[in-house]
Amino acid sequence: MRSDPSELLELAVEVAQSAGSLLLNKRPAEIAVTATKSSPTDIVTDMDRASEALITSALKAARPDDGLLGEEGTAEQGRSGVRWLIDPIDGTVNYLYGIPAWSVSIAAEVDGQVVAGVVHVPPLAETFTATRGGGAQLDGAPIRANQPVPLDQALVATGFGYASARRAKQAEVVRGLLPRVRDIRRAGSCAIDLSWVASGRVDAYYERGPQPWDLAAGVLIAREAGAVVAGLHGRPPSTELTIAAPRGLFEQLHDLLAAAGADRD
Ligand code: IPD
Repeated sequence: MRSDPSELLELAVEVAQSAGSLLLNKRPAEIAVTATKSSPTDIVTDMDRASEALITSALKAARPDDGLLGEEGTAEQGRSGVRWLIDPIDGTVNYLYGIPAWSVSIAAEVDGQVVAGVVHVPPLAETFTATRGGGAQLDGAPIRANQPVPLDQALVATGFGYASARRAKQAEVVRGLLPRVRDIRRAGSCAIDLSWVASGRVDAYYERGPQPWDLAAGVLIAREAGAVVAGLHGRPPSTELTIAAPRGLFEQLHDLLAAAGADRD
């Protein structure tokens, strides 16, 4: 079976949009919180599970030999060299409260490298896409990250983990950052934050904690839009810390976060 990035992207977009329709049209008035994960506020709803089930069965039907890794527990090895990273709802708390900033994020890796990604934002009817080397798009039109601005003029998105101890440290980091930037945004979906770096709605993003399924598609989209996306001291973006910003601003934010120990709890 072929693993051409544009074919993988086409499938990812189709599946993400079907999951988005399910999530929009079948959102119950009262959403059942079926489980919690890392803390009592880290929730899973029936709709996270329904979305992941729709996505995994559609991908398996189209490409039975591929591997799968999903936030709600899907983990299948596969034999084709292609693996899908799936966040069925990124921004579950926003979904629960009806805040229109949640997304479906699907990325395709070939031999461990992400080559295609979609972040679909159903409540805003927006679809961010990228293929490796093929640029990033919003609803099919090319997007670029902002030109770098000095740190004190930068609008910086971030997010916070669910565990209280980690949040205490994250609050300390924000306390040092806030007086030194234009402002902070906390939209509530890491995939949207990275897509907003890609489309210039924010200048930069950083966060400690997001998992591979939260990050994979958004990292590719931000990179393909021209942003630098990395961890501290040349490390790759990861759960430890991910920073995304245009070169020039990246270094300023990196140095401040490194000095603040933003990669530690
Ligand atoms: C969360 C969102 C949020 C980020 C958290 C993530 P979820 O993902 O991306 O913006 O701050 O770290 O866990 O739980 O809604 O899929």
